[in-house]
Amino acid sequence: MTEKFFITTAIDYINAKPHIGHAYEKVAADVLARFYSAKYGRDRVRFLTGTDEHGSKIEKAAAASGVALKEFTDQTAAQFSFAWDQLNIQPDRLIRTTDADHIKTVEDLLIKIKDNGYVYEGEYSGLYCVSCETFYPEKDLIDGLCPIHKTKPELVTEKNWFLKVSEFTGKIKESIEKDELKIWPVERKNEILSLLEQGFNDIAISRPNVKWGIPLPWDKEQTVYVWVDALINYVTGAKDENGKDWWPANCHIIGKDISKFHCIIWPAILLAAGLPLPKEVVVHGYLTVGGEKMSKSIGNVIDPNDWVAKYGADAVRYLLLREVAFGDDGDVSEEKLKTRYEGELANGLGNLVSRVTTLAEKYLGGKYESQKNIFYCDFSKEKKEIEAEIANFRFHTALSKIWEQVIIANKIVDEKKLWDLAKSDLAEFSDVSHHLIARIYFVAEQLEPFLPESSLKILDHLKKYPIIKAEPLFPRILNS
Ligand code: MSP
Repeated sequence: MTEKFFITTAIDYINAKPHIGHAYEKVAADVLARFYSAKYGRDRVRFLTGTDEHGSKIEKAAAASGVALKEFTDQTAAQFSFAWDQLNIQPDRLIRTTDADHIKTVEDLLIKIKDNGYVYEGEYSGLYCVSCETFYPEKDLIDGLCPIHKTKPELVTEKNWFLKVSEFTGKIKESIEKDELKIWPVERKNEILSLLEQGFNDIAISRPNVKWGIPLPWDKEQTVYVWVDALINYVTGAKDENGKDWWPANCHIIGKDISKFHCIIWPAILLAAGLPLPKEVVVHGYLTVGGEKMSKSIGNVIDPNDWVAKYGADAVRYLLLREVAFGDDGDVSEEKLKTRYEGELANGLGNLVSRVTTLAEKYLGGKYESQKNIFYCDFSKEKKEIEAEIANFRFHTALSKIWEQVIIANKIVDEKKLWDLAKSDLAEFSDVSHHLIARIYFVAEQLEPFLPESSLKILDHLKKYPIIKAEPLFPRILNS
């Protein structure tokens, strides 16, 4: 059987501009999409991301900005696609929940669930946080405030249509326990299992008072609950432009604030519709600034475009995945970006490529055997180790293993005194240089998913004949 890999990210709310926390998840998914593309072939990989555009949160943001809803969503959705483009994030589709095919998929899927007998009408009263677009039981509030946004939830009483989630909790629990539906990391898996043990209430799948949403097909007075609408994007986006259906997803990448939606509610919707469950939900931590989760409501957001404009896409991608272990929370700052840029990128990798190619141009020139050096050394053991790290979402250790190679190579240059060797023993100089270039070639190949621009520059450069000095990969940042 030919392997395939269908990867998705959470779709972002477009009430405000994208921030580096949103970017983090998209970069990680892009790395995995590139990694599996190299392994299975680009046509065996599908990468889906997009924007979550309905619900009262967006309605309120549009009203506050004074721009009509359609125009507001078009503008903010464009900011997300621009930011992903700047970061070299290359999804196969950027889905918008306002897309016509998505609306049709939501309608069809909900009718199916209703026909299957898993929907009923009832009344609900509870405390609703608009920023989370979710009800909170009183016990989950901290001093009466939303635990994430620290704002007071609204008391909402309304007539809704409900999904019988409780019918599926046993099956979901079993699938998670048996790893048919994997949850990574194990702490998140245990959290979900304990939530399921406590019992999980049915959920409202419609809202009578939210106008900005997909009308419920059998009761047009109500709109589809924005979370149900949003989750179904994964099924809409599973269909490609050739009509091929990639469902089930191999991997949903999401943040820890939305694991309950993806590991309980989403499986319940799928089971009610008679669809297979995703293979894995991968839950990352929060990027924090000064120890606090980055969010518009807290007001500590970092715009990825600012960093990309100054340091380049590769450096930002590098920082995000090198700085923080993927399942954990971790602090980011421009200071950290600058330190890693100067130390590991410019002085580490950049300097290595520049030193080795400068000497090779000067002393080897046409004697450099570009084809041979690629097979000069066997890095299969290292390659296997790096691949295992990436496949297990340990991006920071994968990068540190790749950097071990950069460090070794720089050490060889220093210890062998390469610039003296060129004058004293040209034969050995040639040997060492070929070895170093092979090592750089290996590093560049491993870096492709993470640093696509630099990787391509290095590989293209090393394939040229005769070898010449490379331009600096990571130029000095002015005014920093
Ligand atoms: N629209 C929902 C997701 C629907 S998926 C069917 C949503 N949107 S969001 O814009 O609030 O968040 C999108 C993703 O970004 C989530 O996975 C969330 O965890 C992640 N992050 C938002 N802020 C973040 C950080 N500060 N750090 C890391 N990830 C963060 O939830």
